[in-house]
Amino acid sequence: MLDAQQIRFFKTQGYLIVPGAMDSALCQRVRDLMWQALPADARLNRDDPDSFIGPFVEEDETSDERHLRAGYRWLNRHLGVNADVISLIYSESICAMAQQLLGGNLRQAVVNGLPMGSHGTAWPGGPTDPALGNDGARGVYCTLPYGNKARGPDGCHTDGHPFQLGVVGLLDDCPEDGGAFKVWPESHTRLFSTFVLRYDQPRIPYYPHLPAYKGIAHSDAYLAELEKVIAEIEPVECHGQAGDIVFWHHRLAHAAGQNYSEQIRQAVLADFWTDDLDHLRTKPVDSDMWEDWSDALQRA
Ligand SMILES: [Fe+2]
Repeated sequence: MLDAQQIRFFKTQGYLIVPGAMDSALCQRVRDLMWQALPADARLNRDDPDSFIGPFVEEDETSDERHLRAGYRWLNRHLGVNADVISLIYSESICAMAQQLLGGNLRQAVVNGLPMGSHGTAWPGGPTDPALGNDGARGVYCTLPYGNKARGPDGCHTDGHPFQLGVVGLLDDCPEDGGAFKVWPESHTRLFSTFVLRYDQPRIPYYPHLPAYKGIAHSDAYLAELEKVIAEIEPVECHGQAGDIVFWHHRLAHAAGQNYSEQIRQAVLADFWTDDLDHLRTKPVDSDMWEDWSDALQRA
């Protein structure tokens, strides 16, 4: 369980690393499942570390949103509803910690339910919507080593679907600069009131005959504050050992890290929300951002 200091850290910083929160034997099993899901003739080969360097060769690539292999990203969303993955990231202890932060009744993941990505992308060329048809975790997300790829900007963002608390769990050891989840501490409190809606980001409808304008409608205040966040805040890389998790607030600026190690970054991503999210998302952004959270967190 989280102590008062950890709860306070989450509240002020917008994230909290909990070392060793996931079962290491189960982490190993999920790593095995990831490799087993690859086609037998794939160039990417568990026994050949040289093959880990991205990007994927063309023959290994697939655009299936539920098992995406493209560039440096290897995302298995089918595994998001796998029984082992659900017992790993929605374990009794991790759910108990999430409950300490959120209060209320947590939404329950469904083993063998519908995986994220079953409906395709949120709009043509856009990302997969994590809220659509997602009965479990988001899935197992891997980042191949960048090799000699030039280092680009981190390009942080906030997520556009309604949820309350995110979690990223390391399935394998991830060294510094090894592609771990990156967060911009305290950005959640700076960004929260710049959103038009408390949990959503308004989406521009996509019309095939009017293709130029699509995606998320950000407020000017959000775009200006995000620029300041990037300029003023030093991001924190949540690297660590297999089994470590990081909780993060839904309005925290974050990025998928760039992997300049020699190993594949392997993580499980999942969301938490409570049964009353559909009511909470109708509330305005100008009331206290913590009033939907647990009493312990409000007092912290
Ligand atoms: Fe994101």
